[in-house]
Amino acid sequence: MTANPRPQLGVCYYPEHWPEAMWAEDAREMVEMGLQLVRIGEFAWSRLEPREGQFEFEWLDRAIKTLGSAGLKVVLGTPSATPPKWVLDKFPDMLAVDAHGRPRKFGSRRHYCFSHAEYRDFAAQMAGRLAERYADNPHIVFWQTDNEYGCHDTVISYSDHARAEFRTWLKEKYGNRSINEAWGNVFWSMDYTEIDDVDLPNMTVTEPNPAHVMDFRQFSSDQVARWDLAQIRAIREHCSKPISHNYMGRVLEFDHFKLGENLEIATWDSYPLGFLEDRSDRSEAFKAQYCRMGDPDFQAFHHDLYRAVGRGRWGVMEQQPGPVNWAPYNPAPKPGMVRLWTWEAIAHGAEFVCYFRWRQPPFAQEQMHTALKRPDNTPYPVCGEIQRVADELKTYEPAAVKADIAIIFDYKSQWAWEVQPQGADFDYFKLVYAYYCAARELGQTIDILSPEHSDFREYDLILAPGLFNISKKLITSLQESNTPVIYGPRTNSKTKDFQIQQDGIARLFNEKVNLNLVESLRPAELVDLEDGGKIHIWNECLDQSSLVSLKKADGTPAMLSKDNLHYIAGWLDPETMKSTLRDIMTSTDEHGECDRVIRTHKSVFNLNYKTQTVEIIG
Ligand code: GAL
Repeated sequence: MTANPRPQLGVCYYPEHWPEAMWAEDAREMVEMGLQLVRIGEFAWSRLEPREGQFEFEWLDRAIKTLGSAGLKVVLGTPSATPPKWVLDKFPDMLAVDAHGRPRKFGSRRHYCFSHAEYRDFAAQMAGRLAERYADNPHIVFWQTDNEYGCHDTVISYSDHARAEFRTWLKEKYGNRSINEAWGNVFWSMDYTEIDDVDLPNMTVTEPNPAHVMDFRQFSSDQVARWDLAQIRAIREHCSKPISHNYMGRVLEFDHFKLGENLEIATWDSYPLGFLEDRSDRSEAFKAQYCRMGDPDFQAFHHDLYRAVGRGRWGVMEQQPGPVNWAPYNPAPKPGMVRLWTWEAIAHGAEFVCYFRWRQPPFAQEQMHTALKRPDNTPYPVCGEIQRVADELKTYEPAAVKADIAIIFDYKSQWAWEVQPQGADFDYFKLVYAYYCAARELGQTIDILSPEHSDFREYDLILAPGLFNISKKLITSLQESNTPVIYGPRTNSKTKDFQIQQDGIARLFNEKVNLNLVESLRPAELVDLEDGGKIHIWNECLDQSSLVSLKKADGTPAMLSKDNLHYIAGWLDPETMKSTLRDIMTSTDEHGECDRVIRTHKSVFNLNYKTQTVEIIG
């Protein structure tokens, strides 16, 4: 095991928003607070190149020098998320187009289509120009490409450029194979004479062919990776420092594992209270209970996910420090939570936690978003909490996360079940998250793995729910690992071409299994199990007698098991899921006092998301 670097704290800073006379004092105060990293530049294009070819890098040179001389290390972002107005005037058709065929407009950010080749090259040139200028700058530690791909629903675009590049992508994918066969275009006479006849799957009378949409979703994801690669290549021509991208929470429109393969570091933006209000499936009562603490599993899930995306090298680039401005309700965190969130990230292996942002701007869209300092430069009380963590970190011995179990997470399966959910409540993220939460409540430390992972021997249990299609290679590595595996519901129920795979479950066991029927359930409709447990949301009727390890009340299989392999024929309700995992796991650690536990090779962290104090003994 390699020694982990001591985690650092940092902050996001926008020198272009403040008079230059403030920079040196800002930098001094950052260092005094115990901050070591500062990210800048990711939205500054209009001040770096106010008109085409008129470069004004001198202010950035001075900003980097001021921050660096104070002792801070700089993360420099490429500014392609905010192309200025003149860039749009240069490429008027660079805007992404929504599902109704309407172009999005200038006046906020992320207003570009990933398939616009000329803007892709133009943005990469800008990245290259920055890399050329700052390649040897001693203050810069790593790069960030763009910012938050996919935020504001920006991956999918139905532009003319997307159509043209989609056709090329289809030609490459299908070669001599018939797209009519693969998609089943005989249905409703959707046959095409040639790929150049294929349009984008929007504005159809009723739903388009799901196989068509799946290909479009894969294409749209690949376009993001292709876009990012253009910038990586441009930076690499001049500079060999690590390159990162800064991801978001529950953004699932592109395959982060694929993008991450080309980068050295993954970072993400952790807004626990914003996420609970804005993108959580939790009940109203749960939200009310946790509105000042955040969902106790949501941050952890993403820390584990981005640890995998960054292949071990990751950090939080934007940590919520106070009320944000973008959720339906924006409460302040309970005192102590920013410290908890920071330590939680560090427990999950973060190399750094940066707070968003240094000072709250009195202008524009985020004027109601708090920061470490008020617009009048008075520090918010959270600064004291941050300083405390900085002091605590001085004696912290970092170590790698010691996971007991792993969950396989697959972006394609998210798209598959969005394309054809077959029931309003079936959502892949929600399913994986339900397993994740159940395992965490049982005291487990978890790794999230991509479907390309092949060595499972170090784990006590692997969870692989809802993978729409699973490769022969993965089935074999799981069978040969001797580690218990839980599949289902819906695992391997489709072919790669998105057609029904009737023997999908049989292939997992190498045994005959008949899948008679699947059904989605209304919210109050539950299927009883023989032992008192319940299935909700999704139910599968299997016909198999020799492998049954758990039965429904009607005597039919709820779970099949063969050696270490298990298949659950439905979506278990939270309590049943927990008791089922408990039965299969070799050990659980239900401490009861604290909400969550996370183990590294040197420490055990108990995280108290409750409102009351908890005493930990032992
Ligand atoms: C992030 C974004 C930042 C800022 C922040 C506000 O999604 O990267 O630029 O907008 O949200 O919470």
